[in-house]
Amino acid sequence: MSLIPVPLLDLKAQHATIRKEVAALFHDVIEEQAFILGPIVGRLECAVAGLSRTRFAIGCANGTDAILLAMRALQIGRDDEVVTTPFTFFATAGTIHNVGARPVFADIDPLTFNLDPAAAGAAVTARTKAVIPVDLFGQMAAVEQVRANVGTIPIIEDAAQSIGASRVIDGTSVMAGEAVTIGTFSFFPSKNLGGYGDGGMIVTQDEELSTTLMKLRMHGSLKTYFHEIVGYNSRLDALQAAVLMAKLPYLEAWSAARRANAAFYDQAFADVADIVTPYIEPANTSIYNQYTIRAQQRDALQVHLKAHGIGCAVYYPLPLHQQPCFAYLGYSAGQFPESERASAEVLSLPVFPELTSDQRDSVVAGVRSFYGR
Ligand SMILES: Cc1ncc(COP(=O)(O)O)c(C=O)c1O
Repeated sequence: MSLIPVPLLDLKAQHATIRKEVAALFHDVIEEQAFILGPIVGRLECAVAGLSRTRFAIGCANGTDAILLAMRALQIGRDDEVVTTPFTFFATAGTIHNVGARPVFADIDPLTFNLDPAAAGAAVTARTKAVIPVDLFGQMAAVEQVRANVGTIPIIEDAAQSIGASRVIDGTSVMAGEAVTIGTFSFFPSKNLGGYGDGGMIVTQDEELSTTLMKLRMHGSLKTYFHEIVGYNSRLDALQAAVLMAKLPYLEAWSAARRANAAFYDQAFADVADIVTPYIEPANTSIYNQYTIRAQQRDALQVHLKAHGIGCAVYYPLPLHQQPCFAYLGYSAGQFPESERASAEVLSLPVFPELTSDQRDSVVAGVRSFYGR
């Protein structure tokens, strides 16, 4: 069998489509020599607030800091607990540890891979100071159900993978980050809206939180050299903002192209008994940051695809409650069975918007050939 190789993600193909716009905006920043929180960062903040339908957006250094600063703004620290999912990128829980609080895990809904709202509610104690649902793979978590289960506890939506995703709540379409206390985005290069380096943003409807967040990202100061609180150096780089401004007009079309690729795969794998294609709740419009299947024969399938040059990856191979650094939390294997099962079964396939139809066919042929089809 001869298949054309397909990378999991092809950022060079994307850059080729926006080269001129990026160069022009880069040029402006360089001519202005305004590299730290220059005007272009403000323009991007306005644009992301508009997209997320939030009143405020605050750029910061990366999506990890976005979560960390969100918790600092909510004054979360020692003796506090924060409930989240163990089936997520490390940063979601690493930041909880790094503000001095205790990560408390609750299992996922096996259909969506997102935090199970009832499990989140059951994990709440008198010490719980926030809940962090994660919009995994580009599909919004059931934030309104999390809210219903956790009462008035602040919700930080880790929307690192879901910028521009939406969910119908009570008959109204809600954007990622819109309906929670604080939403956090990552502009890591592999995200749907990715920079040419690190970047992040925090969104909120709350003016007081937004002012605190603006201080926190700048050493706790709004007026240079006057520090009301102790903060961080966590600013969004103006050159990254330039890239992101150049990309933003394309975001919706790129996410739509990902959805079209996903629909193609859904159909192409429908008759393969071992494969469970992604389940997107009817209320959700996913941006498919990843197209993630389940397969009992996942490991062998991955070896087969790699041998044929088809990019694929396991996000994430070890749930966070089983990570050595969190042994001190005292969780044991088997405690979050759905997260553990997901880690053993998931495989993400190339879904990037620039996929050609030949590449798509090659991915399908590579997968089907493993099952002798
Ligand atoms: C779910 C999730 N949370 C947090 C992050 C952290 O973002 P960053 O890499 O920009 O720090 C990422 C991305 O890497 C992520 O996927």
